[in-house]
Amino acid sequence: MGVGRCMRGYLVRLALTWEAKACLLLSATVVLLLCVLQRDQTHLQLLHVSDVPRELPQVSTEGAGVEASMRESTSEDSVTRRVLPGCPSTPPHLRGKLEVEENVSVSEAEARHGLGVRPGGFSWPLHCVARWSVAIIVPYRDRQYQVGTFLNHMHSFLQRQQLNYSIYLIEQEGTDLFNRARLLNVGFLESRKEGPWDCYAFHDVDMLPENDYHLYHCSAQPRHLAVATSNTKYRTYNFKYYTYYGGACLMTEAHVRKVNGWSNIYWGWGGEDDDMWRRIAFADMSVWRYPSHYARYKTLQHKPQPVNNNRYQILERNTGRYHTDGLNSINYTVKAFTRHPLYTHILADIGSSWNNSLTHLSTSEMHRESSQ
Ligand code: BGC
Repeated sequence: MGVGRCMRGYLVRLALTWEAKACLLLSATVVLLLCVLQRDQTHLQLLHVSDVPRELPQVSTEGAGVEASMRESTSEDSVTRRVLPGCPSTPPHLRGKLEVEENVSVSEAEARHGLGVRPGGFSWPLHCVARWSVAIIVPYRDRQYQVGTFLNHMHSFLQRQQLNYSIYLIEQEGTDLFNRARLLNVGFLESRKEGPWDCYAFHDVDMLPENDYHLYHCSAQPRHLAVATSNTKYRTYNFKYYTYYGGACLMTEAHVRKVNGWSNIYWGWGGEDDDMWRRIAFADMSVWRYPSHYARYKTLQHKPQPVNNNRYQILERNTGRYHTDGLNSINYTVKAFTRHPLYTHILADIGSSWNNSLTHLSTSEMHRESSQ
């Protein structure tokens, strides 16, 4: 009897223990399953987040109806773009060496490119998400005859590179000496309002790339683009001088801000690009270049411009000046901001050269000379 009770008691405890063990095992399995499910869910979310493409740059709310339609299509497109794959690292439709067609009028360029470009000169690939967004900033005055040729060439070039880009033409108001660097600062600040853009291309209107493998992507360091140009028979910058930084270059916003943009005090032709080279060096950066068979440019003919013969004296006084002369000191007024079918036009009042004593060290030295 005693033994029987004892045995029953033992069996009940054993059963309980087994039950408890089974329970424990079951709970552990459920917890494990939940963990695995949760992890997969997180993993899926992560994949999803990393697949979401970068947004298009926002479009300015300034201006009239064109901007409104632009904004609508931009937001539609950015929704569509969420399901698109990223563009390949090597764009598939590059041609290599390009011919430059000259004397194309703006209306002719519009007829050719109107469908692929949004008002204001915005464009992006339709079937994939661009790896880079680039603001093309073009300073000019009295060069309307080159604008059509530039737009015609550049839209094809940039589209084949599958970039998300826009072209800004920054025109200097008035008849004072030309100040390329101030216009570049204006272009950076105004286009930045519609960005941010990954890269800013500071680009002359008469410089046309002749090989589309010369990709307009930013590099870790500022990049000089116009390495070999037709006006010097494609002899490279070494033929001119090693620190040549003219014609066209590419910089990220971080690069531009690190050097406080371009100097505002170079009026007339020359010097501002040399000054930028020095800024880059002062800021402990260096300039990168692609080989000259890619970085090749056709230069368009133009009338001579007044040369700034004081530029080397101004340059010599550069040491440290870049902290106070540049983006943080420019004064300008946007007189007109217009969306054209293939570009955004910004007419700017950038002030007067006569407020700048360094420019007029010796005004008699301002000659009308050829820029090359
Ligand atoms: C000027 C630069 C210009 C270069 C062209 C220099 O003397 O200062 O602004 O880009 O010549 O060769």
